[in-house]
Amino acid sequence: MEKADQYPISQLAADVKRLCAQFDDERQILSHVRSLARRAALSKASWLEDEMYTADAAQGFGVHLLHEEPDHTIAILTVSWLPHRGAPPHDHGTWAVVAGVDGPEKNEFFERADDRSRPGHAVLKKIGEKVCDVGDVVALPTGSIHSVWNETDQVSLSIHIYGKHINYTGRSQFDLERRTEAPFIVKMQS
Ligand SMILES: [Fe+2]
Repeated sequence: MEKADQYPISQLAADVKRLCAQFDDERQILSHVRSLARRAALSKASWLEDEMYTADAAQGFGVHLLHEEPDHTIAILTVSWLPHRGAPPHDHGTWAVVAGVDGPEKNEFFERADDRSRPGHAVLKKIGEKVCDVGDVVALPTGSIHSVWNETDQVSLSIHIYGKHINYTGRSQFDLERRTEAPFIVKMQS
């Protein structure tokens, strides 16, 4: 039997840190981090723990921090999504790369359709969707807006790599119907 790839989070973090030092262009960082995220997702035996499946019932998902630099850059975390729960449309205030580890997650992508002249007001237009299954990767440049939904009856889990920890970027969540924009801070499980 082929030996499973070993790719501990410490090695992933070191690889992402090296890429961020090497490239100024976010697109180049994203294209490289994309393959690292896939490798991490497919070698989950190196790092995945049962505790990462715990989630906050009120929030609908659970966030577990695996790595961040002292200045909050290069944040690596897992998100476990409760069945039939998700996150509203949001941005990240930095670049983001997400890889499916366990179960499919439906992503919908949006862009702003207003002129951003009214604080707290935002109109979004849907521009696409993608189901992110095990080993699939979604790479989002700074400013991208997406929503995530677990349409299955089981908890799903994905690994997320960000240019900076998302609770320190001043990012936003959006309400499609009410056409509002508000801060988006997530509750951390660990
Ligand atoms: Fe996101």
